[in-house]
Amino acid sequence: MTQTSTQVEIKPRHMSFPFSDDLKEQNFWGGNIVLSVFAGALSSTFPPGEGEFIESVRNYRDQIKDETLKQQIKGFIGQEGHHSHQHKRANLILKDLGLDAVRLEKHLEKDLKRYIGYKRVTNKFRLAMTVGMEHLTAIMAEHILTQPEVLSGLNPSVQELLYWHAVEEIEHKAVAFDVFMLCENDQKYLQRVLRLMSFLFSVRITCYMVALLIWARKRPSWKELKGFGSFMFNKKTGLIPGIRSNYKDYFKPGFHPWDHANQDLVEMWKEKMYRPEHDLGLQRANAKEKAKEQKNLNDGLPA
Ligand SMILES: [Fe+2]
Ligand SMILES: [Fe+2]
Repeated sequence: MTQTSTQVEIKPRHMSFPFSDDLKEQNFWGGNIVLSVFAGALSSTFPPGEGEFIESVRNYRDQIKDETLKQQIKGFIGQEGHHSHQHKRANLILKDLGLDAVRLEKHLEKDLKRYIGYKRVTNKFRLAMTVGMEHLTAIMAEHILTQPEVLSGLNPSVQELLYWHAVEEIEHKAVAFDVFMLCENDQKYLQRVLRLMSFLFSVRITCYMVALLIWARKRPSWKELKGFGSFMFNKKTGLIPGIRSNYKDYFKPGFHPWDHANQDLVEMWKEKMYRPEHDLGLQRANAKEKAKEQKNLNDGLPA
């Protein structure tokens, strides 16, 4: 049985963010180069990482008979595919600004290909990695949507990209988990893999930040380091204190991602932050609707 919340629709939104309008500075995050390379390092991991999430779930797709979960897998694949596309666009702009996120993207892509080739890397391990990473992204998403002001130093297009990405991470946070539990049912294994992934992911992001700084020939000032330290560790608004308790819940027996019932954050985003003009899917739907109305008018039918 799947426990995935059926109250949340997993709906891919085809957004387009005007990065080139306002992403013009190398230290685009509040004039702080350390925060900027942090955003660049994270963004570089999304296209290859999300591609692997999709593949690892697809490996199990044929075993799923539950219609709801099948639909949710479809939504998950659509959302992750589109996140990957938008981060690729952002990475190209960052490259033009001298932060070569595209080079890092290729590096991770190559690494992933190599490790998937190892015989010991099973489908179970790949899916468990995805489940672990989905937990990390979902709890980070909750942090930034609960305290949206932590991104206030960012330019609007990147802010909007991250809020939208966060919302969809919440919507689909339990899909890989449900597939894993239905097909493998091994929560202890998930816990071991999350410990490993947390370590590997932190090391990779740190190395990628250093690489971006070296390639851009930038030496951060003390003030910039302090700003980054505050973003990460400030007791009230820091990322690490903000996600700590949710992170630990993964290790509770019987944990399910929807134990963190945060559907209200999706509603809050729809009401206060969603910009339909960036939603290409909505624009297309509206255009179709208008064309239909026009056709009805021409045919003399009520619109
Ligand atoms: Fe994503
Ligand atoms: Fe995700």
